[in-house]
Amino acid sequence: MTAENNSNDVRPAPSGLEGVIFGPSSITFLDGHRGCMFYRGYNILDLAEKATYEEVVHLLWEGSLPGREKLAAFTKPLVAQRALPPEVIRFLKELPKKSHPMEVLRTAVSLLSHFDPDAADSSPEALRRKAERLTAKTSTLVAAWDRIRNGKEPIAPDPSLSHAANFLYMLKGEKPSVIDVQALDAYMTLLADHDLNASTFAACVVTSTLSDLHSAVTAAVGALKGPLHGGANEKAMEMFLEIGDPSKAEAYIEKALAEKKKIMGFGHRVYKVEDPRSVPLKAIARRLGEDRKELRWFEIAVKVEAAVYKRKTVKTNVDFYSAPLLYLLGIPIDLFTPLFAVARVAGWCAHVVEQLEHNRLIRPRTDYMGPTDRTFAPIDQRG
Ligand code: ACO
Repeated sequence: MTAENNSNDVRPAPSGLEGVIFGPSSITFLDGHRGCMFYRGYNILDLAEKATYEEVVHLLWEGSLPGREKLAAFTKPLVAQRALPPEVIRFLKELPKKSHPMEVLRTAVSLLSHFDPDAADSSPEALRRKAERLTAKTSTLVAAWDRIRNGKEPIAPDPSLSHAANFLYMLKGEKPSVIDVQALDAYMTLLADHDLNASTFAACVVTSTLSDLHSAVTAAVGALKGPLHGGANEKAMEMFLEIGDPSKAEAYIEKALAEKKKIMGFGHRVYKVEDPRSVPLKAIARRLGEDRKELRWFEIAVKVEAAVYKRKTVKTNVDFYSAPLLYLLGIPIDLFTPLFAVARVAGWCAHVVEQLEHNRLIRPRTDYMGPTDRTFAPIDQRG
């Protein structure tokens, strides 16, 4: 049975909803053929080079880039809301130390709603306050969990530091260098939003039921965790470590492709050319490698890229050069995807707000292929 003879007048969508336009949006535009991407009309390459993550969050939420005064007022609650409720820290200490940080983040985002005075309020004002808290606290959660699992006390946020600098400080306990802050800030800017990717769609589906922001972001974290989405950055780094030396990249890729394996950090549903985020991420990864006099991971990545291009038409995506970039910043590999969430939470919140502005329950159909009209048999008469 196909949808044609299904009872309702519906036709099957392409597999994976490929090419389906879900609805209007004015947040992020991707041009998959030209390989470019814009937040509210600004090219992300300009933003990554010239704007801070905080300016970009303002852009996503307010629709415009702020002047100095506006930015100061906008940043204030983002800084003031960084600390975690003590109950959440106590809870984190009870979790098994081997839990993956994405599992912890998924649970902890949900937990935060119990301590959010606006948890059940979805008025625009309450949504904004919750978006500020979630954006501020997600960073603290990720850093705190890394400390806790390593038997250390979480480090209190430093209000004098930017969002990116404060994350590195809370993770490592020392003030980061300018080059490291610039690298992480640009990374976070490039990952702050990306149209209707799987995690953002998950957030929109939850929102469409008129559920709350914490539920939407929890679902988004769950969707981001998978290796076909945000989890690919960790897998890409594991691959670079396994390759170990640039001279071994070609043979590794040849074998992996012969075995029909997917190479993590390659391919994209929308981009038919290189993911525009790859270019600045590659440049930053190189800069960090030169700064540390450790170009091995960058060079392996370059060789892998060339080896794949030689054999397949797939191009690198955002997760590919993110991997050496984050590794060189000293971020533990299993924090790569949580850090992606730290950047993306601002985009999720922007889409939740937009969804509510024109909400209609998201409720597609399956193309039912199973049997119909079967005769019911009582349990004793079944084989
Ligand atoms: N390695 C090797 N071949 C690939 C890859 C890859 N990473 N990605 C796609 N291909 C090939 C497929 O084998 C397929 O080839 P075929 O037509 O000869 O069978 C073709 O390209 C189309 O691939 P699909 O998997 O059908 O593309 P889809 O749009 O469904 O998937 C996805 C996109 C999930 C990103 C896919 O490219 C993939 O699995 N990549 C690896 C995981 C990854 O890097 N994910 C991060 C994406 S970016 C993000 O979410 C932040």
